[in-house]
Amino acid sequence: MRGRRTSRDPIVRRLRFGDQDSICDHFLRLDDQTRRARFCGTVSNKGVLGYAQNVLRYDSIVCGAFISGQLRGLVELRGIFQSWRSKTEAAFSVEAEWQGVGIGDALFQQMFAMAQNRCVRTIQMMCLQENHHMRYLAAKHNARFVADADIVEAILHPNWPTPTSIAIEIIAETRAHSHLLFTQTTSSTLRITAV
Ligand SMILES: CC(C)(COP(=O)(O)OP(=O)(O)OC[C@H]1O[C@@H](n2cnc3c(N)ncnc32)[C@H](O)[C@@H]1OP(=O)(O)O)[C@@H](O)C(=O)NCCC(=O)NCCS
Repeated sequence: MRGRRTSRDPIVRRLRFGDQDSICDHFLRLDDQTRRARFCGTVSNKGVLGYAQNVLRYDSIVCGAFISGQLRGLVELRGIFQSWRSKTEAAFSVEAEWQGVGIGDALFQQMFAMAQNRCVRTIQMMCLQENHHMRYLAAKHNARFVADADIVEAILHPNWPTPTSIAIEIIAETRAHSHLLFTQTTSSTLRITAV
């Protein structure tokens, strides 16, 4: 069901090894159209799973967007620790029924701040020519475009870290941890009350 709306802001935070199962489930939930847009081609369940199991690489930063505790979108920033002022590649995936409600924008802002805070020089995003949504999102964040046959490369050059970029990263992580703590406390209280 495309275009489902939510008034709740996603909780955006960095994903770690403890999130591996949620990452695999998220990738497997991507429908054919979203997979094609994400990988610029058709990918089987086996291929998607193999990819998902290797997303948390030593040179990657991965951020996830959670709605009601479920991972619904993520952005990968790859190649981040390979060199000083590195060139990285960013890739987004938002589950079809959660597209168009602001998750991609929230992930974009977080990814950009994280890249900026790590002195990344270039962020590259590859998408299909027909992917107007991704192109719009990149253009909204001032990307420059280079077109090559079916593929469009969107390029961004972050500035040096600023108090704002550092605050964006810290606030998101603090919000995510507070939310987790609140959810755990609430569910323990409910369990105690039920006993
Ligand atoms: C592209 C993608 C990441 C965008 O994420 P999203 O959560 O759907 O995007 P948002 O809801 O944050 O919308 C971002 C903007 O796009 C606009 N938009 C929504 N649908 C659109 C469409 N079909 N075409 C163009 N713009 C569109 C929104 O109005 C919003 O603009 P605004 O902030 O000015 O109002 C997501 O749709 C997706 O995962 N697509 C499939 C995978 C993919 O294409 N990955 C990119 C490869 S790098």
